[in-house]
Amino acid sequence: MASSKKRGAFIVLEGIDRSGKSTQSKKLHEHLTAQKIANQLIRYPDRTTITDCKQNKKLGKLLNEYLQCKQEVDDRAIHLIFSANRHEAKQQLLSWLEEGYTVICDRYSYSGTVYTYSKNVIKRDKMEKEGDKSIKSQKALDWEWCKHVDQGLIQPDVVIYLNVKDLATVKNRGEFGNERYENEAMLKQVLKSYQTFLAEDADKKIWSIVDANQAVEDVHKQIVSITLATIESVASKPVQYL
Ligand code: TMP
Ligand code: MG
Repeated sequence: MASSKKRGAFIVLEGIDRSGKSTQSKKLHEHLTAQKIANQLIRYPDRTTITDCKQNKKLGKLLNEYLQCKQEVDDRAIHLIFSANRHEAKQQLLSWLEEGYTVICDRYSYSGTVYTYSKNVIKRDKMEKEGDKSIKSQKALDWEWCKHVDQGLIQPDVVIYLNVKDLATVKNRGEFGNERYENEAMLKQVLKSYQTFLAEDADKKIWSIVDANQAVEDVHKQIVSITLATIESVASKPVQYL
């Protein structure tokens, strides 16, 4: 990377299902484009990736079918596949940032840890209640393991967390309940797990919390302001890694 060239910022949006991430990512992309700020909009899981030249779209297709409950996959295996879906795109992401593109990313590594971990908490609780002896096997899916597999990925310059106060808000936002994980017990646990991340990462100072209960335009304005400040502040700083 030439030292005079300004790099782009890596902006991640996180939050529970229906918190408004996709709407806001798209609005941010449109805004930056209108302002002639070079940018790319991506999302995870990327349901379209091609990783096997004999069978097109293998990982993306599998993740999509898993989320739509059309396939069952072992809990550890699917967590690794969600992670691999990010690792395989790392070089492309790095190139964009170095070329000066700001990258807006709808969900990232944090969703990976928070969703797998939350699913496991619910499973363990159920097994405990039922006195299931195989509960030990679920231990391997602890918080650190979930996080560890994403080490080495590019660290976001900011994680904009769309904070919903209660599930009543998201339940009224269309199509809730169509995919795996879109149920109350799971999303309650996911909300708690995001709080764990916020507390753990406090010293990294990369999380920025936005009240998702506000009107769409108000949320958008706040996100634009955070993004512009981030683009400015990281332009001459090196990319960091998880
Ligand atoms: P979305 O396409 O509506 O954002 O839904 C993606 C779902 O996948 C959502 O329930 C969160 C979940 N997820 C994981 O379980 N692991 C991951 O690594 C990612 C990125 C998402
Ligand atoms: Mg969803």
